[in-house]
Order: sequence, then structure tokens, then C-alpha cells
Amino acid sequence: MKKVSEFKVTPWEVSGKVDYDKLVREFGVSQIGEKIQKKFDKLHPLLRRGVYFSHRDFDKWLAAQESGKRVSVLTGRGPSEKMHLGHLVPFLVAKSLQDEFGCDVFIPISDDEKFFVKPNLTYEQALEYSKDNILDIIALGFKPGKTFIFQDFVYTNIYKYAAQVAKRMTYSTAKAAFGLKPENNIGWSFYPAMQAAHILFPQFEKGKHMTVVPVAIDQDPFIRLTRDISDYFGFEKPAALHAKFIPSLHGGAKMSSSGEGIVFLSDTPKEVEKKIKKYAFSGGKDTLEEHRTKGGEPEKDVSFQYLKMFFEPDDKKLEKIEKDYRSGKLLTSELKEYLIEKINAFLKEHQVKREKAKKEVEKFLYK
Ligand code: TRP
Repeated sequence: MKKVSEFKVTPWEVSGKVDYDKLVREFGVSQIGEKIQKKFDKLHPLLRRGVYFSHRDFDKWLAAQESGKRVSVLTGRGPSEKMHLGHLVPFLVAKSLQDEFGCDVFIPISDDEKFFVKPNLTYEQALEYSKDNILDIIALGFKPGKTFIFQDFVYTNIYKYAAQVAKRMTYSTAKAAFGLKPENNIGWSFYPAMQAAHILFPQFEKGKHMTVVPVAIDQDPFIRLTRDISDYFGFEKPAALHAKFIPSLHGGAKMSSSGEGIVFLSDTPKEVEKKIKKYAFSGGKDTLEEHRTKGGEPEKDVSFQYLKMFFEPDDKKLEKIEKDYRSGKLLTSELKEYLIEKINAFLKEHQVKREKAKKEVEKFLYK
């Protein structure tokens, strides 16, 4: 019998049409229920509007926070290229949690991971992309003194933790969790120990406490393996918040690297305009007449989805856009114009902050 919806989700490969309910069952994670969802009321649209759909022990993290205990947030970045909008997702959420709860945020940069995994990425390029990506992350407005960035190739102290973790992980567990292949270099098989060391880093450095890791769901195997060994160190099992994949402008499953359907943080207003007009998948009808009478489909429309996830925080405005688009009053071209304006306003500010960040990097590096 032929399976209708085959899909694959591993940290290094995402393909097919992802069935998130099935992932929740297969990964053994929990849906975000009403109680947690309520806590997201004042947080970033990514949390408020359902992009983050499942978790592990986030209720425990919240309870610890509410009882005044130390809590932290940790999320990382594998730097293999300059950053695009989709890459911002976990960092926007980390920042939102920091703003709301005043907690420390730890940000490991896994240049070693990308060096191992990307055949053509040189050591020097990996270092360059780390530097470059760190600026984009700082530009989001994280608080100095409460935000700690470290880069595997530079902050080599991480190795002592990676080694302690590595000793507790078997090759066959890593192979099963990550789908390691015989032809992969052995850097791939060691790397899971490194990422587990990242995830436990706040506890190694500051003592036992709850850490939450906001990540895309493909990163969950790292969380699971880390939770399996955290007892050994007398630590709390790290919590997680899982995001769905952000569609590319074409509407593809994941905003994957390269290709035209991607808005980079360094894009000019003209480039943004061209990309949105040319590539943003439309949920509108083919002719003006048909659109006016039958209306568009916001759930299929990538421009609407980007407004919902990132660029229109105002619920009332979003609701009106949705209603007008569905009724046919708002045209795809108008919706796109609005999104272009919003993205360009965001990028203009981001690019200024990124320039400023060049002078502030030292304040954020973990020492
Ligand atoms: N592996 C992640 C990626 O490719 C980046 C990363 C490194 C990370 N260390 C981490 C994510 C720790 C979460 C927690 O995007």
C-alpha cells in the first residue's frame, strides 16, 4: 500500500508535507494546551498565534518562574549562511521570554556543527558566518548582562562539558535519533554531545534550574537525548517549546537555505519588493472579478501568514485584514503592498541596529 503523506523530519533533513499531530505522537511531546496558551497572551505573535504548537515540561518552567526560582532560556544557531527571516524565529521568542520574565538567555553558536555537516563550508567561512550571525542576533535587542553568546570554535571551554556528556551517550542512540549514515564523517556523531552540552550549559555554569529551549520541532531529538542524561548530572530535565516550520515565500514546507523565495535580513527595500511581488504564494483568485466575488484564502496566502507570524502584532488590524481578504474586499496586490511596507520598516531598523551591534559584541560574549 502506498502511503499518502510521507514526510521526514530530522535535524538535518526536512521533506514532504509535515503532519504535526503525527509528530506530536511520534516524538512523545505535548500539545500546548489552554493553560500555557493563556500565558502567551502578551508575548510575541509567534507564541500567541500558534506557530509554537508543542512543548516538553514548559508548565514546569512556568511554575518555577512563578515561585521566584531561577529560570533560563537557551537557543542556538548553526551559522552556515547569512540570516533570513525564518532564522529569527527562536530568537524572537527568546527575546520575548526575556522581556516578559526577565530571565537570562544563553545563545550557543554551533559553527562546528555546520563545518561538519556542510561539505563545502570551510573552517574560515564557518568562523565568518558566526561573526556575521551574532550581529543579527544582538540587533534584536537582547539585554546585555543577561544574554550570553558563545561560539564553539572560540569558547573552547565548552569542550569539558561536551566530553562529560559524550561519555554518557552511546553511538547507537545517536545513530537512531539522528539517522546518522555510514558515509557521514565522525564529526556528525560527536556533535550531538556538543549540542547536549549547550542545552545543559546554563545548569553546568549556574547550578540546577529549569531551562527552556525554543526550537523548531526538527531539533527535538537533541532535547530528548539531553533529557535522558540530565539526571546523571543531578540537573533538571530541560524544557522545550517547539515551532512549526516557517514556509518559504513559495509556500514550501520549510524556508530552506538558498533559492529565491527567501527574505534575507540584509535585503534592500527593492529586493524585498521584488521577492514578495514575484514569489509570495497567493491565496487569492486568478481574476479580479473572481476574487471580488469569491474572496481569498488567508490560510493559504503566504503574505497573510507572514503578517500573522511576524509583522502585524495588532490583533484588531490582523482580524480586519483577514476578514477583508476572505470577503474579496482586499486584493492580493494590496495585501502584498502592506507586507512589503512592514518588512521594509522592520529591516530598515534592523540594519541600523546591526551596525550598532558591531560595537557591542564584547558585552554579549560569555566569558
Ligand atoms: N543545531 C541548531 C541549528 O542547526 C543550532 C543549535 C546549536 C541549537 N546549539 C543549540 C539549538 C542548542 C537549540 C539548542 O539550528
